[in-house]
Amino acid sequence: MEIRRVGVVGAGTMGNGIAHVFARAGYDVVLCDVEQRFLDRALGTISKNLDRELAKNKITADDKAAALSRIQAVTDRGKLADCDFAIEAATEKLEIKTEIFRDLDQTMKPEVILASNTSSISITKLGALTKRPDKVIGMHFFNPVPVMKLVEVIRGLATSQETFATVRDLAVKLEKTPVEVNDAPGFVSNRVLMPLLNEAMYAVMDGVATPEAVDEVFKLGMAHPMGPLTLADFIGLDVCLDIMRVMQSGLGDPKYRPCPLLIKMVDAGWLGRKSGRGFYKY
Ligand SMILES: NC(=O)c1ccc[n+]([C@@H]2O[C@H](COP(=O)([O-])OP(=O)(O)OC[C@H]3O[C@@H](n4cnc5c(N)ncnc54)[C@H](O)[C@@H]3O)[C@@H](O)[C@H]2O)c1
Repeated sequence: MEIRRVGVVGAGTMGNGIAHVFARAGYDVVLCDVEQRFLDRALGTISKNLDRELAKNKITADDKAAALSRIQAVTDRGKLADCDFAIEAATEKLEIKTEIFRDLDQTMKPEVILASNTSSISITKLGALTKRPDKVIGMHFFNPVPVMKLVEVIRGLATSQETFATVRDLAVKLEKTPVEVNDAPGFVSNRVLMPLLNEAMYAVMDGVATPEAVDEVFKLGMAHPMGPLTLADFIGLDVCLDIMRVMQSGLGDPKYRPCPLLIKMVDAGWLGRKSGRGFYKY
């Protein structure tokens, strides 16, 4: 089946970026969230991010207008029924994704692939909620989606080769680079990255160095574009904690124990850049 119309569930940080890259690549997009204000915010962000591409001469004003005109923003998920592909980018909570996958499985054509942009929840588990586990797959974009090249394409236990090949080719059509990964807690990206961020937090908690010093070590010594604590603030400390907990329970190894300082900061509402305070003040 040719994919022309794409449903995106969740219009937050990732959902708006995913809608942006599909619309820019010529797909019709139905973008769904639970409240109109989240959709308005997403459309504003997409417009602003397209302006950035315009300023860099990557697109023309006509391209921007065409991309925006391809996005239909809806609060009624039923409007995704005639889409040829769906990607879920809603809040990283299993109960939320469970409800969405069960519903999409009921309402969408049986041949449609259901992808998730989850950072850490099992693709195999999401597939098992549906009657089409062979057509459930992880399509893990990175933030900011219009800029970052990588897409981890995650095979659940039951994901078919045909589904994998379709999503891999779809990522290429979006001018991304797909990398094949098997389903496991944290996949590759977060399984390797999050323990680094968590360990940087332990270094601060244990008084080994200040956040600034830890970040300098990684920027100057390892040529990382941003230090681990700046990155943790950017990702969101609540998101980091959720992912560490998924890996701790899924892999069972004490090395995935979330840093107590991270837990304390999240309890205090210090969630990083988005809340104005994390390891740094914004
Ligand atoms: N932020 C990142 O850096 C990043 C990177 C890769 C993957 N992810 C993953 O992408 C997903 C979304 O993360 P985000 O950072 O965009 O979160 P976010 O909080 O910015 O956005 C989530 C959106 O989902 C919406 N939502 C919640 N329940 C919904 C429902 N039932 N139907 C439709 N929409 C619903 C919320 O209203 C919100 O607008 C998560 O699974 C996350 O793990 C995040």
